[in-house]
Amino acid sequence: MTTTTLITSLAEQAIQLEDQYGAHNYHPLPVVLTRGEGVFVWDVDGRRYYDFLSAYSAVSQGHCHPRIIKALIEQAGRLTLTSRAFHNDQLGKAEKYLCEYFGFDKVLMMNSGVEAGETALKLTRKWAYKVKGIAQDQAKTVYATGNFWGRTLAAISSSTDPSSTNDYGPLLPGYVLVPYDDLAALEATFAADPNIAGFMVEPIQGEAGVLVPSDGYLRGVRALCTQYNVLFIADEVQTGIGRTGRRLACDHEDVKPDILVLGKALSGGVMPVSAVLASDEIMLTIRPGEHGSTFGGNPLGCAVAVAALDVVRDERLAENAEAMGQLFRSRLNALAAETDLIRQVRGKGLLNAIVISERPEFGEETAWELCLRFRDNGLLCKPTHGDKIRFAPPLVITEAQMNEACDIIEQTIRAF
Ligand SMILES: Cc1ncc(COP(=O)(O)O)c(C=O)c1O
Repeated sequence: MTTTTLITSLAEQAIQLEDQYGAHNYHPLPVVLTRGEGVFVWDVDGRRYYDFLSAYSAVSQGHCHPRIIKALIEQAGRLTLTSRAFHNDQLGKAEKYLCEYFGFDKVLMMNSGVEAGETALKLTRKWAYKVKGIAQDQAKTVYATGNFWGRTLAAISSSTDPSSTNDYGPLLPGYVLVPYDDLAALEATFAADPNIAGFMVEPIQGEAGVLVPSDGYLRGVRALCTQYNVLFIADEVQTGIGRTGRRLACDHEDVKPDILVLGKALSGGVMPVSAVLASDEIMLTIRPGEHGSTFGGNPLGCAVAVAALDVVRDERLAENAEAMGQLFRSRLNALAAETDLIRQVRGKGLLNAIVISERPEFGEETAWELCLRFRDNGLLCKPTHGDKIRFAPPLVITEAQMNEACDIIEQTIRAF
C-alpha cells in the first residue's frame, strides 16, 4: 500500500507523520488534537472532547486560560530568556511569590518535573555531606516502590517498573526502596542505616494508578523523617497546586515537607516550569556554579507561573477540585455498584482512577478498548498500568460539565 492511500483524513495524516518521523517512545490514543479551551479539546475534524487527562494534571487551570495566555504574550513580547548569567526583572518577583505561596525560605526554578526531582536529590546529597555529616559518596536516598518521577537516569534508578529501566543500565547507586504506605518498613530502613539522607515520596502515587495511602501516612513519614534526621521530599509534581482538593496534597494531613517538588500545573500547562522549595539550611548548600539550567528561572516561565498560581487562588480551584471530586466519586461508586466491570473507584479531589476487570474478549487490552469507546463518546482519558484508568479533568470543570462527563462514562460502561 502506498503512503497516499493510507491518508484518508487529516487525523490519519498527522498520525502517519508521527509514526514515520518520530521516535516510537509513546503509544498515544488515536485522536489528533488541534485546539483547547477550558475543559474541552477539539480534534482536527472538529469533534469536541472532555479532556479527562489534562496532560497528566498539567493543564489544571484549563486549556489556554486567558489570564495565563495574556501573561505569556505580554512577557514574550518583552523578554523571554536571559540565562542566569544576568539578572532579570521577573525572577525575584516570582521567587518571592512562590516562597510566600507555599511557605518556604527559598526556591530553585527549573523546567521539567524530572529536573526538579533531580535538583531535590542533589540538594539532599549536598545537605547530607555539609549538614548531616555523612562521609563523602556514602549518602543514600529512599524511594517507595511504584514511584514515578520522570525519565532521566536519576529518576529511573528508583523505578520498580521494568519498562522504565530495561536496557538502560547501569543505574545510579545510593538508592533504597521501601514498600509504599508502609511506615514500619520505612522506620526499619531509617533505623538500619545512618547514611540515609532523604525520603522522596508522592503523597498519592499518580502513575502507579492513583494509589492513595492510608490516612496518617504522611504524618507518619513527617514524624519518622524528623526523628531520624532524614529529609522528607514531597514530590507534588502531579498532586500539587489544587489537584487533590487542597493547595498541596500534604495539606490534607497538615504536614510540611523539608523539600517540596512542583511542576506541571505550575505553568497551567503552557510551558515547562518546575520548582524546588526548601529552607535556607538546605538550599544554601548549593553555591554559585554548582547547579543550574539555561532555561531555569527564565522570565517567560516566571511570568506564566505567577499568573498560573494567581488563577488557582482567585478561582478557588482547590475548593472546586474537592467538590467536583466528591461528585465524580459518588457517581462512579453508584455505577460500580451496578457493574462488575469497575472493581474500585479511588482518588482525592480531581485525581481519580477506576480499576477495571478484564473482559475475556479483550484481555489485557480491556482498559485500552474502554478508553477508545470513551473517546468515541466525547471523553479522553488513558489507562495507566494495565487495568487502571485515570480521570483527571481540569480543575475549572463546572458541576454541569462534570455531570455531563459522568453521563458519558456511565453510558459507555453500560454499553461495553
Ligand atoms: C509525581 C511525578 N513526578 C515527576 C514527574 C516528571 O515530570 P516531567 O514529565 O515534567 O519531567 C511526573 C510526571 O508524570 C510525576 O507524575
